[in-house]
Amino acid sequence: MTDQELVERAFTMLERAYVPYSHFPVGAALLCADGTVFTGCNVENAAFGSTICAERPALLKAISEGHREDLVKLAGNSTDYCWPCGSCRQVLYEFAPELTVCVARGDHAFVTLPLHELLPHGFGPKSLHQGG
Ligand code: THU
Repeated sequence: MTDQELVERAFTMLERAYVPYSHFPVGAALLCADGTVFTGCNVENAAFGSTICAERPALLKAISEGHREDLVKLAGNSTDYCWPCGSCRQVLYEFAPELTVCVARGDHAFVTLPLHELLPHGFGPKSLHQGG
């Protein structure tokens, strides 16, 4: 699957986004090494702090379906470049510090960069075991 095809999968999720408060739909698609793709969208909540970003349903679907070691690439999109929020960067880093991230905007153009550039010196599972 090409990066552009993964980006297009993320775009298909915009219509599923539940965004009555921000009116800011986000779609995400996560590619695994075997070609499986897990998608997600943001799901807002009247208790605003309970809102869930698009990236996390995609990740949690993968993890809960047994894809933990083979997460390769995440695409996310909105009207303009939608960089994953800090919390999503952290949650992704837990399972896939080597993940590649494609960030797309409304005209379907995208930029690609490694998660470790979005979250330099990230704190992950290995950090807990250092010096122990
Ligand atoms: N949002 C995402 O889905 N992903 C991000 O990485 C940034 C923010 C959502 C959360 C909320 O529903 C809306 O965008 C506005 O913050």
